[in-house]
Amino acid sequence: MTLLSPIINYLLSPKRGSFYKGRLVVSSLILLIFFGACTSEQKQRSFTIGFSQCVESDDWRKTMLQEMNRELAFHPNIQFLYRQADGNSQKQVVQANELLQSAIDLFIISPNEGEPLTPVVEQAFKKGIPVIVVDRKVATPHYTAFIGSDNFAIGKMAGQYAVHLLHGTGKIIEITGLPKSSPAMERHNGFADAIKNYPQLQVVQQVNGEWLPDTAKNELLKIAARYRDVNLVFAQNDMMAQAAYEVFKNKVGIKPAIIGVDGLPSTGLQFVSNKTITATMLNPTGGEEIIRTAVKILNKENVPKENLIQTTVIDSTNVRIMQLQVAKAASQQTQIERQKTMLKEQTRIYNNQRSFVYILISSLFLALILGGLAFYSLQQYRKISKKLQLQNQEILEQQAQLVQMSEKAKAANEAKVNFFTNISHEFRTPLTLILGPLEELMGSNKNQYNTSQTHGLIRKNVLRLLRLVNQLMDFRKIEVDKMKLRASENDLIVFVSDIIQSYKSIAQKRNIDLRLITPESHLNSWIDVTMLDKVIFNLLSNAFKFTKDNGYIHVYINKSESGNNAIIKIEDNGVGMSKDAIEHAFDVFYQGEYENYKGSGLGLALSKSLIELHKGSITVASESLKGTTFEIFLPLGNKHLAKDEMVSSSPEAINSILYEHEKIFTADLITEQTVKQEVNTNQTRKEYTILIIEDNADLRQFLANKLSAEYDILEAENGQMALQQAFDHIPDLIICDVVIPGKDGLALTRIIKTDFRTSHIPVILLTAKTSIEQQIEGMKNWADAYVTKPFNTLFLDQTIKSLLANRARLKEHFTGEMPVALNTQTISKPDRKFISEFTALVENNLSNEDLNVDSICKNMGISRVLLYKKVKTLMNMNVNDYILSTRLQKAKYLIKNESFTIAEIASRTGFTSPAYFSTVFKSKVGVTPKEFREK
Ligand code: FRU
Repeated sequence: MTLLSPIINYLLSPKRGSFYKGRLVVSSLILLIFFGACTSEQKQRSFTIGFSQCVESDDWRKTMLQEMNRELAFHPNIQFLYRQADGNSQKQVVQANELLQSAIDLFIISPNEGEPLTPVVEQAFKKGIPVIVVDRKVATPHYTAFIGSDNFAIGKMAGQYAVHLLHGTGKIIEITGLPKSSPAMERHNGFADAIKNYPQLQVVQQVNGEWLPDTAKNELLKIAARYRDVNLVFAQNDMMAQAAYEVFKNKVGIKPAIIGVDGLPSTGLQFVSNKTITATMLNPTGGEEIIRTAVKILNKENVPKENLIQTTVIDSTNVRIMQLQVAKAASQQTQIERQKTMLKEQTRIYNNQRSFVYILISSLFLALILGGLAFYSLQQYRKISKKLQLQNQEILEQQAQLVQMSEKAKAANEAKVNFFTNISHEFRTPLTLILGPLEELMGSNKNQYNTSQTHGLIRKNVLRLLRLVNQLMDFRKIEVDKMKLRASENDLIVFVSDIIQSYKSIAQKRNIDLRLITPESHLNSWIDVTMLDKVIFNLLSNAFKFTKDNGYIHVYINKSESGNNAIIKIEDNGVGMSKDAIEHAFDVFYQGEYENYKGSGLGLALSKSLIELHKGSITVASESLKGTTFEIFLPLGNKHLAKDEMVSSSPEAINSILYEHEKIFTADLITEQTVKQEVNTNQTRKEYTILIIEDNADLRQFLANKLSAEYDILEAENGQMALQQAFDHIPDLIICDVVIPGKDGLALTRIIKTDFRTSHIPVILLTAKTSIEQQIEGMKNWADAYVTKPFNTLFLDQTIKSLLANRARLKEHFTGEMPVALNTQTISKPDRKFISEFTALVENNLSNEDLNVDSICKNMGISRVLLYKKVKTLMNMNVNDYILSTRLQKAKYLIKNESFTIAEIASRTGFTSPAYFSTVFKSKVGVTPKEFREK
């Protein structure tokens, strides 16, 4: 937990970025895994032991080293530095010093000889390095422990054995080890001590074998022959004993009893078992004991200073048991080795598994931390995304609001633009109707146009302009909140019936049932007369506009059930309104779909505002083709009015306003007949017929009157009628207003110009719309001319004349060489229509090579017989001849006036190939097309 807490604290620190957090977690975990895997090994400190061995060539020393290594295998934390001196004391001194320089923790020495190695031991001990002296002794007590056999006891045991063997009598040769090594001295002393009480036992010769079999052999050979009677040899180790056996057996031929020391299985025990020597004194090497003692010392455990290893005699009586024991020990040792190996393997597996478990735990921990982090991040993410979602929603809402606002603004702007376009249109028509008659008057063309009617027309249109201007001003006042109510107490019945009176004569003329229906004889109410009469006049004018002749307009005045309100209801059985029109009836700038009655778009909106200034309300109910009803609610009394909204009434003022409004509002309603001039009756047919398509009756009439002197006039007030007239009469020219009910002028022009029967008719578009785009649009629809209102009648006149003259010239081109008099006035109107249709059809289809009698009949809807007959009678021509002549006429025209190739002209005039064209051309004209061009 102590290891984890800094990590956890660190992770919880808000200052840290997640990247650093992650990196820290991972590195901490790696450390954790590492420590976890290594802790058990690192509990044990590592040590270095230095061992200085005097010699290693013999089995005893080798066995000692083996035992030491075997024990060391249990202590992997111990580093073992080993030197051997080949039985050379000087060399050993040097090696021992080197070891002491190597920062060893413990020093083991088996000195070759005591004296020379004593200083090194003392030096180490003084340095504080624990010293274990092994097998041979040094001449100082300054060491930590001694491990070795009790060599005096060994010598004494050997002596006692000799006494026993020789029964206290006999000659003995003693072979010693290095005289200055402690075992040699002690074994000798022990032996001497054992035999000292047996004077019959004599050591006859002492030989220095230096612990080595070869030395012993050589020394013995020198003296052996002299001792043929020797009874026993005591050699201080088994190797030297075996050498003695060999010398005496081989060189002297005797076999004295031989006692050795060490009792190693490979040497001493084997020699005893082979009976080459008699007995051996067991001298264990103590290798394992040495290492165990060293470990204890290093672990600061107390150890005895002198550690003597037990000894025993081995001779023929127990050698077998000893060998068996040794064999058993060896097998146990093998077993131990195997178990050790197994243990090592198990340890390895255990370590691996432990590492694995650590990794697993660490991973789990890591997963937990990462899981925690992920959970925390998820929470944060959720919080943030929720916040973002809210913000997003807010933005979307704001965006929607903005879109809505901008749409509203756009709609308002569009409405305003439309309004100003329409109002300017509204101004232009009356202005035309003032300008035209004025020009007439100035030109004093009195025989054509009645002066009083001309004045009347001017007056009427001035009043229309006045009404429009008044409405605009009222609208402006309301818009800037400047319109103030000035209410006075008036009799509503009298007030309304006076207004109705203004419409009586119009109603009579149109046979409209106009009535005021009310149960009240008087109904006093607080009204602003200048405002309310505008409302009533406006509503009545509308009713008259939308009600057909012989219809009815009923005005009701009632008190509401509560008695708190006056209700004025104006009901007609006119054309009614569509749902859309009802919905937008009171919207500013909204203009209904009855374009022939199109107003400024202000009247009803203004009425509503004026009623609302009275704290009243106005509603509309209507059904298409059935009629419309407007209902006005006006609060009675004056409690709802502020003081500054009330004035005292003045009947004179009312009358003057009434008169003014009567003029303004009824000007439009004067029927067309009042200004219609009696023209064109029973007069001789004019050369040309003009169709005037105009919804404004006054303007239409004005134009008709103006043009009827020179042309036959046809009139149409809407698109439907216009097409009917055009196809029925095939006029020579069409004057068409762009804004007309039914179909607009542009669409109408397109129809006229795309129908073969009418396509040749010149069309003049007449409009208040002056923008160049609209003129281009008109021209795109193949209009021939564009005349804008207010127009100069002379200009219009000239335009008409020029278009008709051009048409005539073109026609001459096609028919010039034909033996027909198409323009003759003797031909009846239907026949002229037929000829027009026929010739137009041929002209418009010249490029079509399939143009023939059948296709013409099909198009005109007549039989072949009738076609042949009519063409023959009226034009004195065969149909096919006419087609061919027309083709050649056009070809001639194109050859002379256009830059097309002959092949192109052939195709444009409906010849199947240029060759055929040339042949026909030559046969009819006398020259080839090429020659004709060059002429
Ligand atoms: C081996 C050896 C042994 C003997 C011991 C005495 O080097 O000679 O045979 O017991 O040393 O130090």
